[in-house]
Amino acid sequence: MADLWANLRDHADRNDDRHILDLFEDPGRAESFSVRADGMLFDYSKTRIDAGARGLLLDLARASDVEGRRAAMFSGEKINETEGRAVLHTALRASGGPIIVDGADVMAGVLETRARLYDFAEAVRGGGFAGQGGAITDVVNIGIGGSDLGPAMATLALAPYHDGPRVHYVSNVDGADINDALQGLDPKTTLVIVASKTFTTIETMTNARTARDWMAEAVADPSAQFVALSSATDKAGAFGIPPERVFGFEDWVGGRYSLWGPIGLGLMIAVGDAAFQQFLDGAAAMDRHFQEADLGDNLPVLLALVGIWHNQVQGFATRAVLPYDNRLSRLPAYLQQLEMESNGKSVAMDGTRLQVDSGPIVWGEPGTNGQHAFYQLIHQGTRVVPCEFLLAARGHEPNLTHHHRLLVANCLAQSEALMRGRSMEEARALMGKKGLTGAELERQAAHRVFPGNRPSTTLLYDQLTPFTLGQIIALYEHRVFVEGVILGINSFDQWGVELGKELAVALEPVLTGEAEDADKDGSTRALVAAVKAAGGI
Ligand code: F6P
Repeated sequence: MADLWANLRDHADRNDDRHILDLFEDPGRAESFSVRADGMLFDYSKTRIDAGARGLLLDLARASDVEGRRAAMFSGEKINETEGRAVLHTALRASGGPIIVDGADVMAGVLETRARLYDFAEAVRGGGFAGQGGAITDVVNIGIGGSDLGPAMATLALAPYHDGPRVHYVSNVDGADINDALQGLDPKTTLVIVASKTFTTIETMTNARTARDWMAEAVADPSAQFVALSSATDKAGAFGIPPERVFGFEDWVGGRYSLWGPIGLGLMIAVGDAAFQQFLDGAAAMDRHFQEADLGDNLPVLLALVGIWHNQVQGFATRAVLPYDNRLSRLPAYLQQLEMESNGKSVAMDGTRLQVDSGPIVWGEPGTNGQHAFYQLIHQGTRVVPCEFLLAARGHEPNLTHHHRLLVANCLAQSEALMRGRSMEEARALMGKKGLTGAELERQAAHRVFPGNRPSTTLLYDQLTPFTLGQIIALYEHRVFVEGVILGINSFDQWGVELGKELAVALEPVLTGEAEDADKDGSTRALVAAVKAAGGI
């Protein structure tokens, strides 16, 4: 394996001075460095990957046994080794089985829960399930991390399909979040969803209790308007939510992969069961593609290999996700959890230290907004930021196609500009046309040089429909999986979030004065004292 990494680095070094634009001397490059699946096009031709690099990357994927690990995941083997769990979020969008875990087919339970969820969502939408003041007008989903980011991102993404009650998302333990979300809502016609796999997460439980108190001021039986989505059905019961309104899921669904089952209830209520089913179908189509396509034509595999090439081979530490699709504005935040919680680890599966960098720092904003904020650095900064553009060929506003035309033009122009750049000669000519000469021309021209040769990829899809959104999310899930396999990481645990949580629990009594701060460092002690002095707690 070390040889393969060395070969890749060697290949990158040998071609270091080659310009991406030169690779287009091959007239077939755009075609041969793109891949299509079920109406989606992934173009990675504007990177420095050539046929040699691609071959080496595919060798790395094969040597890492991506195909074997993929089969193990889909068949329910316990590939989450540190927690001894299977990884089967794919079962949540499957239409049949069998899928065996611990000797039993899990699909009957999946389909039964899905049917219960669809019935409940339709009852909420149709008035069959009402609040104590009439039909439900608003739904508040209380959750955090995977119990919030997925459904919140998808609910926003599918706004054109909303035809149910308004759905709001509350995640932060900052009282501002729930306070602002509940403003203007009628507790008698509001449904509260408490979404927590563990039903112990302090932010979620604190917000859930606040919501219950808020509701108790207006209705006789607040828990009658509460629903729980959780693996810990007993804890949901202890909170006072009756079994008929508890929707459970198994420990083989990781939090950040849970949108496809009960955690998707908010989205289901917003768009209805038919649209939600299309969302599942899109993801299932991507699952099939991932399982069946050759590695060299496989979208998740190629996204992963491009990621590995940029991060671990070329050493570009960050990755910008730039959806030219305003309704995907929460996609970067969603992908931050998916990618960074999954692959942000320095220990390999076998407990040894990782020999390569862990997964990349993921960030982004929708275009064109980002163009007027951070693109300056992307174009002219000293560090290279590989960019991933997402673009719909068609928008949802038939009366505003001129907006869409501009959106498309901007997206394509950005990837072109990143690659092409502007040389000093071109900048000089530009300044000359403006009438500058001599030293002033030189000085001004230098500021207008764009280094270019900056890599980007483009994911183009027809329109952001429920089906397409399902494809996109499943594509990224599998990309993260493939990257994790190649890095030798367990992508399905998240021990790195524990320490901060433990220290927060220990600090609360320090803030209230019930515990001493003697074991705290000087900075933490001083900050606690300053907050207390300001009277904030
Ligand atoms: O703190 C990280 C995490 O465990 C995530 O992995 C998870 O999505 C989130 O917290 C919320 O957890 P839960 O759904 O159990 O409340």
